Amino acid sequence: MKLKWFPLFLLLIACKNETPVEEKLPEIGVIAEHAMVVSARKEASKIGAEIMKKGGNAFDAMVATEMALAVTYPYAGNLGGGGFMVYRTQYGELGAFDYREKAPIGASMDMYLDENGEYLKDKSKVGGLAVGVPGTVAGIFAVHSKLGSLPMEDLLAPVIELARKGFIITEMQAERFNKYGPIFEETSGIPSIYNGEFKAGDRFKNEALAETLSRIAKNGRSEFYQGETAKVLTEFIQSQGGIITLEDLDVYEAELRDPVVFQYKDLKVISMSPPSSGGICLAQILKSVAPYPIKEYGHNSVKTIQVMTEAERRAYADRSFFLGDPDFVDIPVDTLISDTYLEGRMNDFSFDQATESANLSYGTIPGYESTETTHYSIVDPFGNAIAVTTTLNAAFGSKLYVNELGFFLNNEMDDFSAKPGEPNMFGLIGGEANAIHPQKRMLSSMTPTLVEKDGEFWMSVGTPGGSTIITSVLQTILNVYEFDMSMQEAVNAPRFHHQWLPDLVQFEPDSFDPIVLKELEEKGYTVDEKNAPVIGKVDAILKLPDGTLEGGADRRGDDTAVGF
Ligand code: DON
Repeated sequence: MKLKWFPLFLLLIACKNETPVEEKLPEIGVIAEHAMVVSARKEASKIGAEIMKKGGNAFDAMVATEMALAVTYPYAGNLGGGGFMVYRTQYGELGAFDYREKAPIGASMDMYLDENGEYLKDKSKVGGLAVGVPGTVAGIFAVHSKLGSLPMEDLLAPVIELARKGFIITEMQAERFNKYGPIFEETSGIPSIYNGEFKAGDRFKNEALAETLSRIAKNGRSEFYQGETAKVLTEFIQSQGGIITLEDLDVYEAELRDPVVFQYKDLKVISMSPPSSGGICLAQILKSVAPYPIKEYGHNSVKTIQVMTEAERRAYADRSFFLGDPDFVDIPVDTLISDTYLEGRMNDFSFDQATESANLSYGTIPGYESTETTHYSIVDPFGNAIAVTTTLNAAFGSKLYVNELGFFLNNEMDDFSAKPGEPNMFGLIGGEANAIHPQKRMLSSMTPTLVEKDGEFWMSVGTPGGSTIITSVLQTILNVYEFDMSMQEAVNAPRFHHQWLPDLVQFEPDSFDPIVLKELEEKGYTVDEKNAPVIGKVDAILKLPDGTLEGGADRRGDDTAVGF
């Protein structure tokens, strides 16, 4: 399809802190007949695809891909973080794994406040106190024991080899390592393998990570949560001012949850449930948009942007009040995504004028008391499909690298609401529902999502991007479904984002029609083209009518689709 105002063949691709490069964007992604992995790194996609070629299923491929990302994409791929996986088996069974980090047992509501109650912003972002109890290793073992088919050793073997032999770093990676290497040393006071001058084409090896993975392959899950690795990990965290203990690791469990499932026209959308806000917010926004003929309005037209922005405003206002860890707070999920409630929420929307966020709060529900992440999608030859988003939170998490173990530690504690009304690093505001409590999971925006059409798997989609994750997933689904784009075009298309507060709409720069932006401003929207050089970095797979798979790998990064 042709987009009038978006130069599809010449998009300025800019990542935060990176030099923009011009690239010719393909309009159709990689096509495969049987199976596919789309992830942030070529090596990780390849390892996942190889596992499936050897007879493994999507869940086996998940284990290998997740760990291969920890090796080749330490920016977000991890052993020291957490994530979510939504799945649909070949038999149509749906489920979700929650391996989100938890607050340590020693955590408290005011742990980031000083004696005067002032919020100490850095403490939840950098260093030992920012670290949540890691869930990723529990996650891969939980997925593997329920749904995997090949032995864990076989899944980890190629990853261990990759860590040992090394991989070739890209331009983007060289820049990041050069920039962050000194920051890691400054944070922990200890030099690491990231000190040095890197350039694209260099080989990067991580022997310590190969050793850690070998011990995990040999000793199993307990190596990380009770064994040698647990000891080294807790001693390191505590030496860095953190409070995670052996008991925290010992009691950590990944959870199997029911995903949020809802209908958008003839699509059945399956997305992540709390402790992610992703599924609920996506449901709220899509269902609020559904009554409006956005296909007629046109892609990225004034009216389409208005409808989506207003739906987003209301969903994010609800997010800040109602959502948190379901093991700690009661969330009125059914009401929040019900047609009646959502109709009521959109009642005061008018095309004439923007709603002001300052005049909008969360909805009334009777009886209710009250940048860095990575996503990959996998479809296997059997028909199993997964969507997985995993994170350290910020780029390289807390910036703490454990030399002896070869991986970074998250700063997920910043996803809690450290103080009512104080925005976190994504500008998100929260209240009691997302306040810190021992062993509670912090609210997430990660939105790994699967979509069914006519009772069959249709799409797997997700992205990093903090608070912009939900709106990026939303736009990708709508681009294909409403605006007839290919999977790759839907990923390429320029994106915008609104999250209630701050009351502005972010647009990827130089990619929206200036007349549309001017008209939006006249209606009272604050247009911001400066602060989000990229919004999301979407990886997705679409099943085409002839049964083949089309990958959508986001050129805003080094993302790659590999299929066969
Ligand atoms: O769980 C969340 O919502 C955040 N920790 C995700 C962080 C993220 O996507 C950063 N990437 N750009």
